[in-house]
Amino acid sequence: MLKANIAVFCSGGGTNLQALLDAQAAGTLRSGRIALVLASTPEAYALERAKKAGVPAAVCSRREIGSQEAFEAAIRKALSAHDIHVIVLAGFLSILSEDFTRCWPGRILNIHPSLIPAFCGKGMYGLKVHEAALARGVKITGATVHLVNEIPDGGPIVLQRAVEVLPGDTPEILQRRVMEQAEWVLLPQAAELLCAQIVKGEDKQ
Ligand code: GAR
Repeated sequence: MLKANIAVFCSGGGTNLQALLDAQAAGTLRSGRIALVLASTPEAYALERAKKAGVPAAVCSRREIGSQEAFEAAIRKALSAHDIHVIVLAGFLSILSEDFTRCWPGRILNIHPSLIPAFCGKGMYGLKVHEAALARGVKITGATVHLVNEIPDGGPIVLQRAVEVLPGDTPEILQRRVMEQAEWVLLPQAAELLCAQIVKGEDKQ
């Protein structure tokens, strides 16, 4: 295998997807190729980014499809149609069952906007994470990329980076700083690390 095929799962703006696309264009993401963008809603701006970059996209909406089984069957179909080796969860807000994640051991990365184990787990996503960090009064927060297993935000940590909380921060301002200083740097690096291992046959699967 020359490159690992990556599927990026998104639900919203897709700035982390953009960071991956930019890294691919710059050649820093070289062991993997973004082969599919999968959105959980047709409104996700990530779909526009995929279109602009010429990357195939699919929409699998849990709400529109109905059951979790049918939702995951649709995802599996899209993944096999594009011969995907690695899944990157980049702000994907739909829940994936244990049955699903068990089929991809060591092959799913997730980006979370805090220093795990702080401010993570069930119900902690997006702005809520930064609201919780500000409410607790931490002076340092950051982002984590980890491998996904059956425990929400509980899989092995791949990369982490710390970011300062500054006086006057709102959740929105802090979110932006964490994205700029940590998420957009870490996610392409982690994707390259995992894809390089897979290409060399050194991953643990
Ligand atoms: C990012 O901040 C990501 O870390 C977070 O959602 C945002 C998606 O933004 N993910 C989580 O909170 C997962 N628990 P994006 O669509 O612009 O990449």
